[in-house]
Amino acid sequence: MEQTLSPALPATLYPPSEATVQRARISGRAAYDRLVAEAEADPDAYWGRLARELIAWKQPFTQVLDQRRAPFFEWFADGTLNASYNCLDRQVENGLGEKTAIVFEADDGAVTRISYQDLLARVCRTANVLKSLGVGRGDRVVIYMAMSIDGVVAMQACARIGAIHSVVFGGFSAQSLRDRIADTGAVMVLTADQQVRGGKQLPLKAIVDEALVLGGCDSVRHVLVTRRTGGAVPFQAPRDQWMADLAAAQPPTCEPEWVNAEHPLFLLYTSGSTGKPKGVQHATGGYLLHAALTCQWTFDLGPEDVFWCTADIGWVTGHTYIAYGPLAIGATQVVFEGVPTYPDAGRFWKMIQDHKVSVFYTAPTAIRSLIKMAEGNDAVHPRHYDLSSLRILGSVGEPINPAAWEWYHRHVGGGRCPVLDTFWQTETGGHMITPLPGVTPLVPGSCTLPFPGIDAAVVDEAGNELPWGQGGILVVRKPWPSMIRTIWNDPERFKASYYPEEFQGRYYLAGDGAIRDKTTGYFTITGRIDDVLNVSGHRMGTMEIESALVAMTDLVAEAAVVGRPDDTTGEAVCAFVVLKRPLPSGDEARRIADQLRNWVGKEIGPIAKPRDIRFGDNLPKTRSGKIMRRLLRTLAKGEAVTQDVSTLENPAVLEQLGQPY
Ligand code: PRX
Repeated sequence: MEQTLSPALPATLYPPSEATVQRARISGRAAYDRLVAEAEADPDAYWGRLARELIAWKQPFTQVLDQRRAPFFEWFADGTLNASYNCLDRQVENGLGEKTAIVFEADDGAVTRISYQDLLARVCRTANVLKSLGVGRGDRVVIYMAMSIDGVVAMQACARIGAIHSVVFGGFSAQSLRDRIADTGAVMVLTADQQVRGGKQLPLKAIVDEALVLGGCDSVRHVLVTRRTGGAVPFQAPRDQWMADLAAAQPPTCEPEWVNAEHPLFLLYTSGSTGKPKGVQHATGGYLLHAALTCQWTFDLGPEDVFWCTADIGWVTGHTYIAYGPLAIGATQVVFEGVPTYPDAGRFWKMIQDHKVSVFYTAPTAIRSLIKMAEGNDAVHPRHYDLSSLRILGSVGEPINPAAWEWYHRHVGGGRCPVLDTFWQTETGGHMITPLPGVTPLVPGSCTLPFPGIDAAVVDEAGNELPWGQGGILVVRKPWPSMIRTIWNDPERFKASYYPEEFQGRYYLAGDGAIRDKTTGYFTITGRIDDVLNVSGHRMGTMEIESALVAMTDLVAEAAVVGRPDDTTGEAVCAFVVLKRPLPSGDEARRIADQLRNWVGKEIGPIAKPRDIRFGDNLPKTRSGKIMRRLLRTLAKGEAVTQDVSTLENPAVLEQLGQPY
């Protein structure tokens, strides 16, 4: 089915197979074009139609898009709904009560299944617990839990009572957790005693305790703890209580809190180009619509599918494609506690085989590392597993290089499953540019075409649309329902980041560069145009890491962080540091580098630890005192310096900074 096109299109195109076209909900290019035309002709009618079809409204909306406060757009604003009702009660009412909602596989392989009706009962008990402790509409609840049914229950329970959850990834440090608790003003933290990953027990509750004494967390009145391992955790009465004890005393029903469509569903912190992570605020109605719609159109999920998204609920992918989207359409999904390499690197393939997964969604980093492992140990190669249940594969979070794409397509998908390279962001709520399985001929390395209704374009710095074939800035022209509403506590930063003055508020600025193929108009994302790095699909700001380094005030005078390409993790963090002491070398430099790494791990989380640390007597700067970051990027890559360095005060520093530790 491989077919090479005209020279104008150098990459290989993979057209959808006949079987996929036959089966897909959106089938054939003409169907896609009709949807795009419908959305273009009358966006309000298009989104309004879908919102009525996919969402159960308590009170129907009378207006679709309200632009009066642009760029603070409002969608379906006078409609009321409840996200948890849409995800759970609706399925039970439609006769899916006994259907499996979640197949949970623990780190040690133990499997637990929960039906829609049992999940609903558990969510209701938990919601009642929250209510009994005075948590209600608009209150913020921070969730610091690992991958578990309880994690999903916690999110759904917040949604049920109109509380706004903010999930903090379980790999973030006490300091990062504190910053998020303080910024949200959370009244409650939901956590577990410990988490288990790769056979190891790791702390959760202990980190919450640490975070809460760092200051600024006075708003927290309760910490509720789920039991995972039974490991000893210190309890502080009356603040801390076991969730199970409280839930057992609660009834299994709870009337949903009907909220306006614009009521915030959650805050999720993500990195920007300044030091402080931003609390991306999503609204209930528009977000849920796109979560459900993309599950239906991109993943083509139907009643017989078993969906598995390997993301963590601490990231947006785990929100949209675990906690909300699949449930909103009544699908069965796998939730996995562990890591892809434990007990060996065949874990993903074994789980796909055991649970007969039909639609699988993961990150390029995972694929790249599993390729390496399979090359090193044939026993964990996917060919040894029965993956015939698969019909659609997805990729998310970072660019997928063509070699990894081809391997994924061939060895995991057996050459018959489309690989959907889905481009989107925490801020966009769901897929923005993505192939649709029954529509789009695929090109490895391209996320292809916008989702119907998403008006993506590539523009120059003045905001003029560029011809296909010319790289520029990725923007979205029209608002869409699942877009970020604001940055919590910082509406000005929202405007400056996403609707900057250069574009007179006309476009949403994604922060990525893109180029469209000359012939097909397919989009390829060329990477961030700001100071945001993407390491293993984890997004982090260079300034965040720099701030952490210079916070080591007795040791570090100055620090600059850049990314460099890495075969497995996509990018690697590279830190250039000036110490408040003579330039170290050899063992001493290695010791200090480790000390700095551990410090960053403690300040932000292990994912932010710099791979390379380089020391210099100073950093290369322009005459006006700006750090020459481009030059640093060249050094980080280990390439020869071709930039003009005549303004450097101390050219010898280039040699010093060339040595990584
Ligand atoms: O740079 C893009 C990259 O990840 C960024 C968004 O990161 P985050 O908000 O953490 O959300 C990740 C999961 C949706 C984007 O600005 N990115 C995401 N998907 C892709 C991608 N880059 C290239 N191709 C993709 N498919």
